[in-house]
Amino acid sequence: MKKNMKIKAPAKINIGLTITKRRLDGYHDLISVMEQISLSDVLLLEPQREGGWRYFCSEPSLSGKDNLVCRVASLLAERSKERELPGVKISLYKNIPAAAGLGGGSSDAAAALKGLNSFWNLEMSPEDLLEAAALIGSDVPYCLQGGTALVQGRGEKLEALPAFPFHWVVLAVPSGMHLSTAEVYAALKPVHLGQPRLHTLIAAIREQSAELLHEWFGGGMTNTLEAVVAPKHPRLPVLRRQFLDLGLYPVMSGSGPSFFALCENLSTAKAAAFALQEAGHRVFLSWTLSGLYNQKE
Ligand code: C5P
Repeated sequence: MKKNMKIKAPAKINIGLTITKRRLDGYHDLISVMEQISLSDVLLLEPQREGGWRYFCSEPSLSGKDNLVCRVASLLAERSKERELPGVKISLYKNIPAAAGLGGGSSDAAAALKGLNSFWNLEMSPEDLLEAAALIGSDVPYCLQGGTALVQGRGEKLEALPAFPFHWVVLAVPSGMHLSTAEVYAALKPVHLGQPRLHTLIAAIREQSAELLHEWFGGGMTNTLEAVVAPKHPRLPVLRRQFLDLGLYPVMSGSGPSFFALCENLSTAKAAAFALQEAGHRVFLSWTLSGLYNQKE
């Protein structure tokens, strides 16, 4: 009998995101520096007597068969239909806010790929898994690989970067606000494309330079898509200002609406998290996963 498997599915943040062009297939080419954070969903795989797979989600709105986890299970089961696969109950316990630009669904899908490959003994190679990931969604390849990465193309071209230095992450999502990635991308105009340029950020990570990181965040604009969503959602410029008033640099993640700030100091991060919660946002105090924890306090 198979054993239970528990797989963590961490959220991702875009420390910088530039959309460079609209492609003929309707997607967009992008350049992004991505990092994973400690805020995670959990995927549980449990053997079940009857064959096939069953899906349960702690969040009723994500319980439908259109969930990315179900798409992964269907894809892998379809590809292996000549084999008898051990029956599995797939349970997804959500912590990452959905439709917030944090890649929660993509990370769940990456966890399902890894987990089912092992649970069903499919022996898919890392390359096979990355190829399947790209079929499921643009952020799934990065979520599968993890680490600090430079991500390009539609999201499928990955280059590992040196580990992003450890930071606390104060994450705030305006309560009740969800944005559709497809709608945000559809509202992009040619004037938005190509900004910001990520050279300073990439150099900061390659050289592990705190000065260059300050220069990057101090430059203001870190994500092309903020210029698209901020004018339509006045709560976002307010949230940006609240971070600035706390002495922190605000960064929008992915297609929003979550904003985060990176802190070296835990007490600063806790105080900011408390203030943003008091202001009515959903707040998470998290940390970056790649760099080594070396707290100076
Ligand atoms: O790939 P995924 O299904 O996550 O993308 C959701 C939507 O976001 C796409 O349908 C597309 O409209 C938009 N998108 C894009 N270019 C990307 C990634 C996503 O236009 N590189």
